Amino acid sequence: MSEPTYVLAVDQGTTSTRAILFDHSGSVVAVDQREHEQIFPRAGWVEHDGHEVWENTRMVIGGALGKANVNRSAVAAVGITNQRETTIVWDRTTGQPIANAIVWQDTRTGRLVEELAGDEGPRRYADRTGLPLATYFAGPKVRWLLDNVEGARERAMAGDLLFGTMDSWVLWNLTGGADGGLHITDVTNASRTLLMDLQTLQWDSDLCEAIGVPMSMLPQIRSSSEVYGVCHPGILDGVPVAGILGDQQAATFGQGCLERGMAKNTYGTGNFMLLNTGTEIVPSENGLLTTVCYRLGDEPAVYALEGSIAVTGSLIQWLRDNLDIISAAPEVERLARSVDDNGGAYVVPAFSGLFAPYWRPDARGAIVGLTRFVNRGHIARAALESTAYQTHDVLEAMNADSGVALTELKVDGGMTANDTLMQFQADILGVDVIRPVVAETTALGAAYAAGLAVGYWSSTDDIRANWQEGKRWSPVMDGGDRDRLLRGWDKAVQRTLDWVD
Ligand code: G3P
Repeated sequence: MSEPTYVLAVDQGTTSTRAILFDHSGSVVAVDQREHEQIFPRAGWVEHDGHEVWENTRMVIGGALGKANVNRSAVAAVGITNQRETTIVWDRTTGQPIANAIVWQDTRTGRLVEELAGDEGPRRYADRTGLPLATYFAGPKVRWLLDNVEGARERAMAGDLLFGTMDSWVLWNLTGGADGGLHITDVTNASRTLLMDLQTLQWDSDLCEAIGVPMSMLPQIRSSSEVYGVCHPGILDGVPVAGILGDQQAATFGQGCLERGMAKNTYGTGNFMLLNTGTEIVPSENGLLTTVCYRLGDEPAVYALEGSIAVTGSLIQWLRDNLDIISAAPEVERLARSVDDNGGAYVVPAFSGLFAPYWRPDARGAIVGLTRFVNRGHIARAALESTAYQTHDVLEAMNADSGVALTELKVDGGMTANDTLMQFQADILGVDVIRPVVAETTALGAAYAAGLAVGYWSSTDDIRANWQEGKRWSPVMDGGDRDRLLRGWDKAVQRTLDWVD
């Protein structure tokens, strides 16, 4: 009997890197995971060490194969998914990064994006890119590195440096590194740079010039599902790499949101809600992004509207690491349940300014509504609730942009294990919240993209057939209570705006 075959997904996320083997039913066979260091050199700066990330990637691949007790012959294909926008620049000959990767949450490009916006304002390139000029995106981060790392611009002009988001970094290393590694990204990741034209799906020379990024550094843009090449050398030697999707797009795909009008919300370090808009590019008038959702081989690209929230899960880490009021993230639920409500307190975690729908880099976080009555339980509860309120704001924008009110919301990601939060989310949104049986939708989406390209799955009908409802939360809160809480939240958000002079 021949060995069963699987598809391997590599999920290079903000806090950790994971490798997951999936079988044909989309079930998890084995997982391995390693966290990497979050480097905060200054207020507002967030970095990752590219070497550490690649080393972890190698280790988790070995770990997952080891746990399943299989070798490369059992792997039909590899799919890559990744934290988006995080920017790394490296030397094509030595493979050495010229600096730490600048993480998507990093706000060091604040002044630069203001300059780039000029008199036309932050929506200067929105028609072409679907994005406002904001610190979040990759292009200005590359420019910052070229301006601030000694000799970098000259080396880039000489063709010695390569730019990538983490998908490109992982792929280049998986396929040989300095010894012939492939320098490729997919349309979803490229759509987060401010350098790609959403219509042509190609780098735009005007944008590259305006932002100050030499085109010779840029990876080739390919679809999200095709054979890019094979792994070489190492434990996966010869296995095709056949899928790349930014993590939020991967989760949308893994959730089976394959029809126009379907949406998902992922609760990770931040929260990201994506609404599939089909082959139509829908511009946002309510503070959302227009982005590529996926492109399968030669098929037309599918687009999405996205509401990105910078800080949700990472607020719980902050309670653990900076305030020390819990010792492990899951404890937040127990602490939040030790009180009946938020006691009047609200936490607005504007650590990277506020993303959607506000796009205010000058906002700074606040805890408001404090009285002597408020204790750590209330703060924990207010922190959890902030995730639900921020999601509410994004859903309102989504409904306004699409002209159709969502009637239910598919969810996934770590915080969906938190029952208290999910019930509160359903209450605050006033719609059902549904988690699938396989909540590893990000990795699953990348696995599907890779597996489709090599014929492991025959069509997207397999994705639809594999999706199963796991748990549903329905709203039970009284409408008056809901409105009162939302009014409090709105006032709290107003307090955080314009904090920086
Ligand atoms: O845009 C940033 C997003 O891709 C990060 O996702 O899950 O790594 O926090 P995550």
